[in-house]
Amino acid sequence: MTRINISPVTRIEGHAEVRIDLDETGGVESAHFNVVELRGFEKFLIGAAVEEAPRITPRICGICPTSHHVASALACDQIFGADIPDTAKYLRELLMHGQYVHSHSLHFFMLAAPDFLIGHEVPADERNILGLVKKEPEIAKKAIIVRKFGQRLTEAIGGKPIHPSSAIPGGMSHAITETQRTELLEMATEARTIAEECWSLARDILDKTDLSFGAVDTAFMGGTENGRYSVCGGTTNVIDTDGTPLSSFSGAAYLDHIEEYSEDWSYLKFSRLNDGRYYRVGPLARLNIVDTMGTPAADAALDEYRDKFGRCVQTTLAYNPARYIEFLASCERAVELLSDTSIISDEVRTPVDEVVNTRGVGIIEAPRGTLIHDYTVNEDGFMEKCNLIVATCQNNRAMDQGVFDVARKVVSNGTISESGKNQIEMVIRAYDPCISCATHAIGRMPFKCTIVPKRKGLMKKR
Ligand code: NI
Repeated sequence: MTRINISPVTRIEGHAEVRIDLDETGGVESAHFNVVELRGFEKFLIGAAVEEAPRITPRICGICPTSHHVASALACDQIFGADIPDTAKYLRELLMHGQYVHSHSLHFFMLAAPDFLIGHEVPADERNILGLVKKEPEIAKKAIIVRKFGQRLTEAIGGKPIHPSSAIPGGMSHAITETQRTELLEMATEARTIAEECWSLARDILDKTDLSFGAVDTAFMGGTENGRYSVCGGTTNVIDTDGTPLSSFSGAAYLDHIEEYSEDWSYLKFSRLNDGRYYRVGPLARLNIVDTMGTPAADAALDEYRDKFGRCVQTTLAYNPARYIEFLASCERAVELLSDTSIISDEVRTPVDEVVNTRGVGIIEAPRGTLIHDYTVNEDGFMEKCNLIVATCQNNRAMDQGVFDVARKVVSNGTISESGKNQIEMVIRAYDPCISCATHAIGRMPFKCTIVPKRKGLMKKR
């Protein structure tokens, strides 16, 4: 067999392929996570009025629009020199929690859970959300209820269920009403109950799984606010492979700590620390960095997680329970924020009128990891330079290494079993990569795995 294709491979967000090159004996010589799409938002934003960016950048992705929206608004606040009202800060935080609830529950219940609850040895056409509905109908029902809450929260605060538009330079375009607060609080409370009930499922999900899969040893980066878990606000922190703090920064200082680079096999950019070392972002990284989640059930879950995996966790598949703990924290925090009636205050915006700084850097923690929007404008506020660094680029190297690690274990004499293919995907899926965000891709999202034997010229024909 000269080439093996997995097509379509589902349950990742974007269009990607895995390429495995074999040596003469049919063993694995190299393996890459390979992204082949490009959109180019950073280029076509040049010349746009910067206040349009919070409305344009959510179109990068239908999965993570809120993260781009809020990061963009933060960069705009700096450019217009605005100190936003507290209620606007809380509304933006709530908007982010809506994104977390929606995105993390999508990943946990619908993308990752079928591997664990149905089993990776089961045929692909049964290993999906429909298979889950058949096998675990109650869990599937709960997943739909929490996702509905995340979507409704985004719609009520963001103005639209998918591409929110309410975060603007200086704050928010509208407040929420008491009727909305009551409705959302009821939904948040129900979501919190479900999140608490299903924690044991998430906690035990890896019990029968080989935890060495996709192993890499990296530093980590993530945001906190005085040691507390924070999705928007605070500082960005880097820790070493053993958890030792390395640095802490905010705003444009990120360039003193990380750098981007590219490889010739992928349109997806890579990031590394300025000293050349690799780091990871997202749930695993954030939970390695925080002292506390700041809410009771998530803190109790964090204790159990640390008892099981340790204080600084390198296990790639632990992204799954770590993500669940964040989902639980978002449900709890949403209840907290919505229980405070000051959230309906109509003081949601500081008026802005002129450019105060020609550069603004918005850094937030998106569900998949640290997200940076770096804008430079002219004195009239038109974009001159735009750099977006998304989570998937920062995890790119680790995903690539993880694919290589699993490929070496599951490819034998140039062949790979159905279960082996899915084990490669499980490692990629643990990171919940968003290819749409990372390359700004359009279209269907198949995934292809190609095994290329050692033969002169074949790789060039691909
Ligand atoms: Ni995305």
